[in-house]
Amino acid sequence: MPRTVLVTGGAGYIGSHTCAELLEHDYDVVVVDDYSNSSPAALGRVQEVAGRPLISVPADMRDRRALDAIFEKHSIDAVIHFAAKKAIGESMNIPLVYYDVNLGGTTNLLHSMQRHGVQKIVFSSSCSIYGESSRARLSEDEEPRPTNPYARSKWMCEQVIRDACKRCPEMSAISLRYFNPIGAHPSGLLGEVPAGLPNNVVPYLMQVAVGRLKRLSVFGSDYDTPDGTAVRDYVHVLDVVAGHRAALEHLDEETGTQLFNLGTGVGTSVLQLVAALSEACGRPLPYELADRRPGDVATLVADSDRIHRAWGWRPVHGLKEMCRDAWRFQRMNPRGYTAPR
Ligand SMILES: NC(=O)c1ccc[n+]([C@@H]2O[C@H](COP(=O)([O-])OP(=O)(O)OC[C@H]3O[C@@H](n4cnc5c(N)ncnc54)[C@H](O)[C@@H]3O)[C@@H](O)[C@H]2O)c1
Repeated sequence: MPRTVLVTGGAGYIGSHTCAELLEHDYDVVVVDDYSNSSPAALGRVQEVAGRPLISVPADMRDRRALDAIFEKHSIDAVIHFAAKKAIGESMNIPLVYYDVNLGGTTNLLHSMQRHGVQKIVFSSSCSIYGESSRARLSEDEEPRPTNPYARSKWMCEQVIRDACKRCPEMSAISLRYFNPIGAHPSGLLGEVPAGLPNNVVPYLMQVAVGRLKRLSVFGSDYDTPDGTAVRDYVHVLDVVAGHRAALEHLDEETGTQLFNLGTGVGTSVLQLVAALSEACGRPLPYELADRRPGDVATLVADSDRIHRAWGWRPVHGLKEMCRDAWRFQRMNPRGYTAPR
């Protein structure tokens, strides 16, 4: 089983929780991150939670020399590749940057892995690649129809990884298509701290809750959903992290590519999420209804039977816990990682 794991984007939201989990399970961890959407302070917290050190290398995934230097210096057994730009709206405005970072960073990484004989990778894919569908739940067999450059970049990365595996028969790759990870570490030490204005609904609402932002704009109230707002499948970040550990443990079993959804199968509308977070905070969180955002779709809910059948993975945290943990983190860290707790 892999023991030293390179985690790209390890200072980010899902990456930091994953690093803590890996350290706690005796993996050695090397992080590469350019801190474009995070801060080194996140890695300080990871080490505080896990009680063990990790190695961090500040670098851009597009810097091939920097990646080569990491593989030369450290004996890496496997890679978990989180580093990417992830805001759908932004990707409509600066698509080439999204292809450059997400696709360019991935091909760079694969080149470097191949040059250094590293054959195992877990890749962060996204439910956004499915696009609009009439099905209530989306299985991995659903034909991807991405509706924005971010989602297209993720789908392209999956295909690039598949092609790399075809040329390199010893390679083993697992792509995990996450639905909507939310929540935070139960210690209150780790959470989602994006740089600048949050793009995702939970970190945005959490800033509304502590008075740093006025109200949430709910984009689209005329979708074909029970209350007209978009329906998503929210999954606790700890369940997503558990999926990554399971993936690492199963990378040895098969060569080639495998693909799994990571979601709960439960659809929650934006208004239902606002209500659940309001309950967690103990006060109604203000919102306004706004126009749909280009690139968004009405409903994305997972069928995660495949990963359950393969590895026994099932989400164990419900929406209430996700909201409670997100609020605990925000309460303990109203200004993110940089200010004193
Ligand atoms: N959070 C979600 O809702 C969600 C859903 C589906 C898929 N994903 C995918 O999961 C992965 C992690 O998401 P997250 O929510 O933790 O995002 P995040 O922005 O918190 O983490 C990404 C990390 O990558 C780093 N990074 C970005 N560009 C880089 C570059 N060029 N070089 C080095 N580091 C770079 C950022 O600084 C950040 O620390 C991403 O690939 C994202 O597309 C996220």
